[in-house]
Amino acid sequence: MIRRPDAIRGATIVGTGMYVPDRVLTNADFERMVETSDEWIRERTGIVERRIARPDQASSDLALIAAQHALESAGLTAADLDQIIVATTTPDRILPSCACTLQAKIGAVNAAAYDVFAACTGFIYGLGLARGVIGTGIADTVLLVGVEMLSRIVDYTDRNTCVLFGDGAGAAVLRPCGPEDGILAVSIHSDGVLGDLLEVPAGGSLRPASAETVRDRDHFIKMRGRELFKVAVRGMEDSLRQALDRAGLSVGDLDLVIPHQANQRIIDATRERLGVPADKVILNIARFGNTSSASIPISLDEVQRQGRLKPGDHVGFVAFGGGATWGATVTRWTMPAPRRSQPVAAPGAEAEPQAAAPSPVRGTGS
Ligand code: UT7
Repeated sequence: MIRRPDAIRGATIVGTGMYVPDRVLTNADFERMVETSDEWIRERTGIVERRIARPDQASSDLALIAAQHALESAGLTAADLDQIIVATTTPDRILPSCACTLQAKIGAVNAAAYDVFAACTGFIYGLGLARGVIGTGIADTVLLVGVEMLSRIVDYTDRNTCVLFGDGAGAAVLRPCGPEDGILAVSIHSDGVLGDLLEVPAGGSLRPASAETVRDRDHFIKMRGRELFKVAVRGMEDSLRQALDRAGLSVGDLDLVIPHQANQRIIDATRERLGVPADKVILNIARFGNTSSASIPISLDEVQRQGRLKPGDHVGFVAFGGGATWGATVTRWTMPAPRRSQPVAAPGAEAEPQAAAPSPVRGTGS
Protein backbone atom coordinates (compact mmCIF):
# COMPACT_ATOMS: atom_id res chain seq x y z
CA MET A 1 0.00 0.00 0.00
CA ILE A 2 1.23 3.49 -0.81
CA ARG A 3 2.04 5.36 2.42
CA ARG A 4 1.62 9.12 2.32
CA PRO A 5 1.55 11.63 5.17
CA ASP A 6 -2.00 12.82 5.82
CA ALA A 7 -0.96 16.44 5.56
CA ILE A 8 2.16 18.56 5.37
CA ARG A 9 3.70 18.35 8.83
CA GLY A 10 5.69 20.97 10.63
CA ALA A 11 9.33 20.42 11.58
CA THR A 12 10.88 21.64 14.80
CA ILE A 13 14.22 21.63 16.58
CA VAL A 14 14.17 19.14 19.47
CA GLY A 15 17.87 19.15 20.37
CA THR A 16 20.88 21.45 20.05
CA GLY A 17 24.63 21.05 20.49
CA MET A 18 27.91 22.78 19.76
CA TYR A 19 31.64 22.24 19.92
CA VAL A 20 34.56 24.61 19.50
CA PRO A 21 38.23 23.59 19.73
CA ASP A 22 40.14 24.57 22.88
CA ARG A 23 42.93 26.45 21.12
CA VAL A 24 42.40 30.23 21.10
CA LEU A 25 43.98 32.64 18.62
CA THR A 26 43.76 36.20 19.96
CA ASN A 27 44.06 39.56 18.20
CA ALA A 28 47.40 39.95 19.96
CA ASP A 29 48.59 36.76 18.23
CA PHE A 30 47.71 38.33 14.86
CA GLU A 31 49.68 41.48 15.73
CA ARG A 32 52.73 39.21 15.66
CA MET A 33 51.74 37.50 12.40
CA VAL A 34 50.58 40.29 10.02
CA GLU A 35 50.45 44.11 9.87
CA THR A 36 47.35 44.62 12.04
CA SER A 37 46.26 45.73 15.51
CA ASP A 38 43.86 44.58 18.19
CA GLU A 39 42.18 47.99 17.91
CA TRP A 40 41.59 47.66 14.13
CA ILE A 41 40.17 44.14 14.43
CA ARG A 42 37.84 45.03 17.32
CA GLU A 43 36.59 48.25 15.73
CA ARG A 44 36.10 46.89 12.21
CA THR A 45 34.78 43.42 13.09
CA GLY A 46 33.96 43.05 16.81
CA ILE A 47 36.24 40.00 17.02
CA VAL A 48 38.50 39.48 20.05
CA GLU A 49 39.48 35.85 19.57
CA ARG A 50 38.62 32.75 17.59
CA ARG A 51 39.05 28.99 18.04
CA ILE A 52 41.46 26.95 15.93
CA ALA A 53 41.31 23.17 15.56
CA ARG A 54 44.23 20.88 16.29
CA PRO A 55 46.17 19.51 13.29
CA ASP A 56 44.80 16.03 13.99
CA GLN A 57 41.16 17.18 13.90
CA ALA A 58 38.99 17.28 10.77
CA SER A 59 35.58 18.89 10.29
CA SER A 60 33.81 15.58 10.95
CA ASP A 61 35.51 15.38 14.38
CA LEU A 62 34.12 18.79 15.37
CA ALA A 63 30.73 17.85 13.89
CA LEU A 64 30.70 14.56 15.81
CA ILE A 65 30.94 16.22 19.23
CA ALA A 66 28.33 18.87 18.39
CA ALA A 67 26.02 16.17 17.00
CA GLN A 68 26.42 13.96 20.09
CA HIS A 69 25.45 16.92 22.31
CA ALA A 70 22.42 17.62 20.10
CA LEU A 71 21.27 13.99 20.19
CA GLU A 72 21.72 13.92 23.96
CA SER A 73 19.68 17.08 24.40
CA ALA A 74 16.96 15.58 22.16
CA GLY A 75 16.96 12.34 24.16
CA LEU A 76 17.63 10.37 20.96
CA THR A 77 20.37 8.07 19.68
CA ALA A 78 22.23 7.98 16.36
CA ALA A 79 20.20 4.94 15.30
CA ASP A 80 17.06 7.13 15.40
CA LEU A 81 18.35 9.37 12.59
CA ASP A 82 16.80 9.12 9.10
CA GLN A 83 18.97 11.82 7.54
CA ILE A 84 22.19 13.68 8.28
CA ILE A 85 22.67 17.01 6.53
CA VAL A 86 26.04 18.70 6.96
CA ALA A 87 26.35 22.35 5.93
CA THR A 88 30.04 23.06 5.34
CA THR A 89 32.53 24.75 3.07
CA THR A 90 35.39 22.75 4.55
CA PRO A 91 34.51 19.03 4.33
CA ASP A 92 37.20 16.55 5.40
CA ARG A 93 37.56 15.60 1.73
CA ILE A 94 35.70 16.41 -1.50
CA LEU A 95 34.77 12.73 -1.73
CA PRO A 96 33.20 11.21 0.35
CA SER A 97 30.94 13.87 1.80
CA CYS A 98 31.54 15.11 5.33
CA ALA A 99 28.04 13.88 6.20
CA CYS A 100 28.92 10.29 5.23
CA THR A 101 32.09 10.43 7.32
CA LEU A 102 30.02 11.74 10.25
CA GLN A 103 27.39 9.04 9.64
CA ALA A 104 30.05 6.36 10.10
CA LYS A 105 31.70 8.03 13.12
CA ILE A 106 28.44 8.55 14.99
CA GLY A 107 26.99 5.16 14.00
CA ALA A 108 23.82 6.44 12.34
CA VAL A 109 23.18 3.10 10.63
CA ASN A 110 19.72 4.07 9.35
CA ALA A 111 20.53 7.52 7.98
CA ALA A 112 21.00 8.93 4.50
CA ALA A 113 23.77 11.54 4.57
CA TYR A 114 24.76 14.44 2.34
CA ASP A 115 26.46 17.84 2.39
CA VAL A 116 25.06 21.27 1.56
CA PHE A 117 27.48 23.81 0.09
CA ALA A 118 25.96 27.21 0.74
CA ALA A 119 28.84 28.82 2.64
CA CYS A 120 27.73 30.96 5.60
CA THR A 121 24.04 30.48 4.71
CA GLY A 122 24.43 26.68 4.85
CA PHE A 123 22.58 26.18 8.12
CA ILE A 124 19.58 28.19 6.85
CA TYR A 125 19.54 26.20 3.59
CA GLY A 126 19.76 23.02 5.68
CA LEU A 127 16.79 24.08 7.81
CA GLY A 128 14.80 24.56 4.61
CA LEU A 129 15.78 21.08 3.43
CA ALA A 130 15.05 19.49 6.80
CA ARG A 131 11.66 21.14 6.91
CA GLY A 132 10.96 19.85 3.39
CA VAL A 133 11.92 16.22 4.02
CA ILE A 134 10.15 16.09 7.39
CA GLY A 135 7.10 17.98 6.16
CA THR A 136 6.59 15.60 3.24
CA GLY A 137 7.19 12.46 5.29
CA ILE A 138 10.47 11.51 3.61
CA ALA A 139 12.17 11.55 7.03
CA ASP A 140 11.08 11.76 10.66
CA THR A 141 14.35 12.57 12.39
CA VAL A 142 17.01 14.75 10.82
CA LEU A 143 20.40 15.81 12.18
CA LEU A 144 21.56 19.12 10.75
CA VAL A 145 25.14 20.19 11.43
CA GLY A 146 26.94 23.41 10.49
CA VAL A 147 30.68 22.82 10.73
CA GLU A 148 33.75 24.67 9.52
CA MET A 149 37.50 24.45 9.78
CA LEU A 150 38.19 27.69 8.00
CA SER A 151 41.69 27.74 9.49
CA ARG A 152 42.56 25.13 6.83
CA ILE A 153 41.67 27.44 3.92
CA VAL A 154 42.68 30.80 5.38
CA ASP A 155 45.89 32.47 4.20
CA TYR A 156 47.67 33.53 7.40
CA THR A 157 49.73 36.02 5.43
CA ASP A 158 46.60 37.89 4.17
CA ARG A 159 45.46 40.42 6.79
CA ASN A 160 42.26 41.10 4.84
CA THR A 161 40.90 37.66 5.69
CA CYS A 162 42.98 35.84 8.29
CA VAL A 163 41.74 37.83 11.30
CA LEU A 164 38.10 37.07 10.53
CA PHE A 165 37.61 33.33 10.59
CA GLY A 166 37.44 30.58 13.22
CA ASP A 167 36.65 26.87 13.56
CA GLY A 168 33.63 25.29 15.20
CA ALA A 169 30.49 23.19 14.87
CA GLY A 170 26.86 23.52 15.84
CA ALA A 171 24.09 20.95 15.47
CA ALA A 172 20.34 20.60 15.69
CA VAL A 173 18.03 17.58 15.65
CA LEU A 174 14.67 18.10 13.96
CA ARG A 175 11.44 16.12 14.33
CA PRO A 176 7.85 16.50 13.07
CA CYS A 177 5.46 18.85 14.85
CA GLY A 178 2.10 20.49 14.21
CA PRO A 179 1.94 22.87 11.23
CA GLU A 180 1.59 25.90 13.55
CA ASP A 181 4.89 25.18 15.33
CA GLY A 182 8.56 24.86 14.45
CA ILE A 183 9.97 26.34 11.25
CA LEU A 184 7.17 28.61 10.04
CA ALA A 185 8.83 30.11 6.99
CA VAL A 186 12.03 29.91 4.95
CA SER A 187 13.38 32.55 2.56
CA ILE A 188 16.55 31.51 0.69
CA HIS A 189 18.29 33.20 -2.21
CA SER A 190 21.43 33.18 -4.35
CA ASP A 191 23.24 35.31 -6.92
CA GLY A 192 26.13 33.51 -8.62
CA VAL A 193 27.13 36.71 -10.41
CA LEU A 194 28.63 37.73 -7.06
CA GLY A 195 30.61 34.48 -6.81
CA ASP A 196 34.07 35.98 -7.00
CA LEU A 197 33.51 38.33 -4.04
CA LEU A 198 34.37 35.38 -1.79
CA GLU A 199 36.11 32.39 -3.34
CA VAL A 200 38.74 29.69 -3.13
CA PRO A 201 40.03 29.91 -6.71
CA ALA A 202 41.70 26.50 -7.06
CA GLY A 203 41.25 22.90 -5.99
CA GLY A 204 38.05 22.16 -7.89
CA SER A 205 37.34 21.04 -11.47
CA LEU A 206 37.98 24.53 -12.86
CA ARG A 207 41.55 24.74 -11.57
CA PRO A 208 42.72 21.42 -10.15
CA ALA A 209 45.58 21.43 -7.69
CA SER A 210 48.98 21.93 -9.31
CA ALA A 211 52.38 23.22 -8.28
CA GLU A 212 51.33 26.54 -9.82
CA THR A 213 48.08 26.85 -7.79
CA VAL A 214 49.96 26.04 -4.61
CA ARG A 215 52.68 28.57 -5.45
CA ASP A 216 50.06 31.25 -6.12
CA ARG A 217 48.26 30.52 -2.81
CA ASP A 218 45.07 29.88 -4.77
CA HIS A 219 43.78 27.21 -2.38
CA PHE A 220 43.06 29.92 0.19
CA ILE A 221 40.05 32.21 0.67
CA LYS A 222 40.10 35.43 -1.36
CA MET A 223 37.58 38.06 -0.35
CA ARG A 224 36.43 41.50 -1.51
CA GLY A 225 35.14 42.48 1.92
CA ARG A 226 33.88 46.00 1.32
CA GLU A 227 31.65 44.94 -1.60
CA LEU A 228 30.32 41.95 0.34
CA PHE A 229 29.51 44.14 3.31
CA LYS A 230 26.91 46.17 1.42
CA VAL A 231 25.12 43.25 -0.20
CA ALA A 232 25.19 41.31 3.07
CA VAL A 233 23.25 43.98 4.99
CA ARG A 234 20.64 44.34 2.24
CA GLY A 235 20.27 40.58 1.73
CA MET A 236 19.90 39.84 5.43
CA GLU A 237 17.31 42.55 5.94
CA ASP A 238 15.28 41.56 2.86
CA SER A 239 15.26 37.83 3.56
CA LEU A 240 14.26 38.19 7.20
CA ARG A 241 11.44 40.54 6.21
CA GLN A 242 10.33 38.04 3.55
CA ALA A 243 10.40 35.10 6.00
CA LEU A 244 8.37 37.13 8.52
CA ASP A 245 5.89 38.03 5.81
CA ARG A 246 5.52 34.38 4.78
CA ALA A 247 4.92 33.45 8.42
CA GLY A 248 2.28 36.19 8.78
CA LEU A 249 4.40 37.93 11.41
CA SER A 250 6.10 41.31 11.72
CA VAL A 251 9.46 42.43 13.11
CA GLY A 252 7.83 43.29 16.45
CA ASP A 253 6.74 39.65 16.88
CA LEU A 254 10.35 38.43 17.05
CA ASP A 255 11.57 37.48 20.52
CA LEU A 256 15.12 36.75 19.37
CA VAL A 257 17.22 37.14 16.23
CA ILE A 258 20.24 34.88 15.70
CA PRO A 259 22.28 36.34 12.83
CA HIS A 260 25.28 34.78 11.13
CA GLN A 261 28.33 36.23 12.90
CA ALA A 262 30.24 37.71 9.94
CA ASN A 263 31.03 41.13 11.31
CA GLN A 264 29.51 43.02 14.24
CA ARG A 265 29.02 46.09 12.03
CA ILE A 266 27.02 44.02 9.49
CA ILE A 267 24.85 42.70 12.33
CA ASP A 268 24.37 46.19 13.83
CA ALA A 269 23.50 47.73 10.45
CA THR A 270 21.00 44.94 9.68
CA ARG A 271 19.44 45.27 13.12
CA GLU A 272 19.07 49.03 12.74
CA ARG A 273 17.46 48.73 9.30
CA LEU A 274 15.03 46.12 10.64
CA GLY A 275 14.30 48.11 13.80
CA VAL A 276 15.04 45.24 16.20
CA PRO A 277 16.17 46.23 19.73
CA ALA A 278 19.82 45.32 20.45
CA ASP A 279 18.91 43.07 23.40
CA LYS A 280 17.03 40.74 21.04
CA VAL A 281 20.02 40.13 18.77
CA ILE A 282 22.59 37.47 19.64
CA LEU A 283 26.26 38.43 19.35
CA ASN A 284 29.11 36.05 20.11
CA ILE A 285 31.50 37.07 17.34
CA ALA A 286 33.91 38.45 19.97
CA ARG A 287 34.61 34.91 21.18
CA PHE A 288 34.43 32.84 18.00
CA GLY A 289 34.96 35.12 14.98
CA ASN A 290 33.22 34.13 11.75
CA THR A 291 32.62 30.36 11.78
CA SER A 292 30.55 30.46 8.57
CA SER A 293 27.83 27.79 8.55
CA ALA A 294 28.55 26.92 12.21
CA SER A 295 27.89 30.36 13.62
CA ILE A 296 24.08 30.19 13.82
CA PRO A 297 23.85 26.70 15.39
CA ILE A 298 26.65 27.56 17.85
CA SER A 299 24.71 30.68 18.91
CA LEU A 300 21.47 28.71 19.06
CA ASP A 301 22.92 26.09 21.38
CA GLU A 302 24.31 28.80 23.65
CA VAL A 303 20.99 30.65 23.96
CA GLN A 304 19.05 27.42 24.46
CA ARG A 305 21.39 26.29 27.25
CA GLN A 306 21.23 29.76 28.85
CA GLY A 307 17.42 29.42 28.99
CA ARG A 308 16.89 32.47 26.77
CA LEU A 309 14.31 30.67 24.62
CA LYS A 310 10.95 29.32 25.79
CA PRO A 311 8.18 27.49 23.95
CA GLY A 312 6.11 29.87 21.85
CA ASP A 313 8.94 32.35 21.24
CA HIS A 314 9.46 33.52 17.68
CA VAL A 315 13.12 33.32 16.66
CA GLY A 316 14.61 34.53 13.40
CA PHE A 317 17.79 33.08 11.87
CA VAL A 318 19.41 35.17 9.14
CA ALA A 319 22.64 34.82 7.16
CA PHE A 320 24.66 35.94 4.16
CA GLY A 321 27.62 34.20 2.60
CA GLY A 322 29.73 33.24 -0.37
CA GLY A 323 28.00 32.18 -3.55
CA ALA A 324 26.49 34.65 -2.98
CA THR A 325 23.82 33.04 -0.81
CA TRP A 326 21.55 34.57 1.77
CA GLY A 327 18.39 33.74 3.63
CA ALA A 328 16.34 33.63 6.78
CA THR A 329 13.94 31.41 8.69
CA VAL A 330 11.32 32.21 11.29
CA THR A 331 10.64 29.54 13.91
CA ARG A 332 8.06 29.15 16.64
CA TRP A 333 10.22 27.63 19.35
CA THR A 334 9.06 24.38 21.00
CA MET A 335 11.98 23.16 23.14
CA PRO A 336 11.59 23.64 26.89
CA ALA A 337 14.26 25.75 28.58
CA PRO A 338 16.80 23.66 30.56
CA ARG A 339 16.08 23.34 34.27
CA ARG A 340 19.27 25.19 35.10
CA SER A 341 20.88 27.62 32.65
CA GLN A 342 24.49 26.92 31.73
CA PRO A 343 27.04 29.75 31.52
CA VAL A 344 28.92 30.45 28.29
CA ALA A 345 32.62 31.19 28.04
CA ALA A 346 33.84 34.78 28.15
CA PRO A 347 36.66 35.63 25.73
CA GLY A 348 39.77 33.84 26.96
CA ALA A 349 37.97 31.88 29.67
CA GLU A 350 38.76 28.47 28.20
CA ALA A 351 42.00 29.47 26.60
CA GLU A 352 44.87 27.05 26.51
CA PRO A 353 48.19 28.67 27.37
CA GLN A 354 49.53 30.38 24.26
CA ALA A 355 52.97 29.79 22.86
CA ALA A 356 55.27 32.75 23.44
CA ALA A 357 55.91 33.18 19.73
CA PRO A 358 53.13 33.16 17.16
CA SER A 359 53.03 29.71 15.63
CA PRO A 360 51.74 28.76 12.23
CA VAL A 361 48.25 27.46 12.63
CA ARG A 362 48.31 24.46 10.36
CA GLY A 363 50.37 21.48 9.51
CA THR A 364 53.19 21.74 12.01
CA GLY A 365 51.83 19.69 14.85
CA SER A 366 51.79 22.83 16.99
O1 UT7 B 1 30.69 35.52 6.22
C1 UT7 B 1 30.05 36.16 5.16
C2 UT7 B 1 30.97 36.75 4.17
N1 UT7 B 1 31.89 37.72 4.70
C3 UT7 B 1 31.50 38.98 4.93
O2 UT7 B 1 30.34 39.32 4.81
C4 UT7 B 1 32.57 39.97 5.27
C5 UT7 B 1 32.12 41.35 4.87
N2 UT7 B 1 33.13 42.38 5.00
C6 UT7 B 1 33.68 42.79 6.18
O3 UT7 B 1 33.39 42.25 7.22
C7 UT7 B 1 34.59 44.00 6.13
O4 UT7 B 1 34.57 44.54 4.83
C8 UT7 B 1 36.05 43.70 6.55
C9 UT7 B 1 36.13 43.44 8.02
C10 UT7 B 1 36.57 42.51 5.78
C11 UT7 B 1 36.93 44.93 6.25
O5 UT7 B 1 36.40 46.06 6.87
P1 UT7 B 1 36.20 47.42 6.05
O6 UT7 B 1 35.80 48.46 7.02
O7 UT7 B 1 35.26 47.12 4.93
O8 UT7 B 1 37.67 47.73 5.57
P2 UT7 B 1 38.18 47.96 4.08
O9 UT7 B 1 38.14 46.68 3.30
O10 UT7 B 1 37.45 49.11 3.54
O11 UT7 B 1 39.69 48.33 4.34
C12 UT7 B 1 40.06 49.45 5.08
C13 UT7 B 1 41.55 49.47 5.24
C14 UT7 B 1 42.32 49.08 3.98
O12 UT7 B 1 43.44 49.92 3.90
P3 UT7 B 1 43.47 51.13 2.84
O13 UT7 B 1 43.26 50.47 1.51
O14 UT7 B 1 42.31 52.01 3.24
O15 UT7 B 1 44.81 51.71 3.06
C15 UT7 B 1 42.79 47.67 4.29
O16 UT7 B 1 44.00 47.37 3.64
O17 UT7 B 1 41.94 48.54 6.26
C16 UT7 B 1 43.00 47.73 5.76
N3 UT7 B 1 42.94 46.43 6.40
C17 UT7 B 1 43.51 46.19 7.60
N4 UT7 B 1 44.21 46.95 8.44
C18 UT7 B 1 44.63 46.39 9.59
C19 UT7 B 1 42.33 45.31 5.97
N5 UT7 B 1 42.50 44.32 6.87
C20 UT7 B 1 43.23 44.84 7.89
C21 UT7 B 1 43.71 44.31 9.10
N6 UT7 B 1 44.39 45.13 9.91
N7 UT7 B 1 43.49 43.04 9.47
